[in-house]
Amino acid sequence: MKGLILSGGKGTRLRPFTYTGAKQLVPLANKPVLFYAIEHLVAAGISDIGIVVGDTGDQIRAAVGDGSLLGARVTYIQQDRPLGIAHGVKIAETFLGKEPFVLFLGDNFIREGIVPLVDQFRSGGANSLIILNRVKNPCDFGIAECVDRRVVRLVEKPREPKSDLAVTGIYMFDQNVFRAVNSIKPSARGELEITETIQYLIDNQFQVAAHFLENGSCWIDTGKMEDILEANRLVLEVLAERLEGFMDESSEICGRVVLEPGSEVINSVIRGPAIIGQRTRIINSYVGPFTSINHDCLVSDSEIEHSVVLENSRILGIRYRIENSLIGRNVEVARSPMKPRAYKLVLGDFSKVGLL
Ligand code: G1P
Repeated sequence: MKGLILSGGKGTRLRPFTYTGAKQLVPLANKPVLFYAIEHLVAAGISDIGIVVGDTGDQIRAAVGDGSLLGARVTYIQQDRPLGIAHGVKIAETFLGKEPFVLFLGDNFIREGIVPLVDQFRSGGANSLIILNRVKNPCDFGIAECVDRRVVRLVEKPREPKSDLAVTGIYMFDQNVFRAVNSIKPSARGELEITETIQYLIDNQFQVAAHFLENGSCWIDTGKMEDILEANRLVLEVLAERLEGFMDESSEICGRVVLEPGSEVINSVIRGPAIIGQRTRIINSYVGPFTSINHDCLVSDSEIEHSVVLENSRILGIRYRIENSLIGRNVEVARSPMKPRAYKLVLGDFSKVGLL
């Protein structure tokens, strides 16, 4: 089998991050979401992977390279315009050939991996396997209607959902999918929809099997801010402790914590689960549970928890605790001694700040 990861799209729901960065590269426990998808494919025995890229292709190429560091062999496929998931499949036909494949949306995260799902598809004899998960907000997803656990209808982001079974961004297909993607027409939003592709297969008597994720399985579409914090929490919950940085005698670390090489903790308290990236310094500060601080950051005289901080950022002398926050790259959040005593903000479009 081959793998196909879609890593284009504009990521409008993740602005302002996606003005400068690809949404698939937002890190969970300091590792890009996309890397988890690649690793899960490799763990399922699939190392020949195509990645469909768009405007942010250069960043994706720079991060993933030829895939060898993750045990994969990556082929890049350029999508000139974001014309839909099924369009991504269509332009990958030459790469995929006649082999069955896993289609993985690069912003989807599944903590438990895909080995049992791939096994089910390999042994089941269906033309396609979709993975369903109950959600609280069915209007935001492709939704499946089932009769006796058999899928009869799929609707993309229905206004009046008939079920709460979301179609996750992990799908498996055999070569018959090309018949579907070459037959369907663009939807009202101008995209070739994956839901319509699968509906075509159902309507034309191909076998579409479903795998229902158990209650408690951890799947997240990380397309929105809150979802990133949630997915970050899920990864940190199972991260193995690793203390490769420096910690002085007046510091305290409790719970599961990762200190990456070159990190320093000075006169501070870190309460895990948390990860502190390479060369990041935590000085006179508190880092609380479910926090990931990426490489080359500085946190001094501040408190932060349940947050994600991207690389090269600085948090200096903040009087109140920072929580539930997503802080981008090269950001500085600092107390200002300058008069008059006032907030001095430089915020990009779509930024959000909660002040006390
Ligand atoms: C896409 C699909 C949708 C699916 C979702 C899963 O939506 O169109 O059917 O449920 O991924 O993540 P998007 O997140 O691109 O709006």
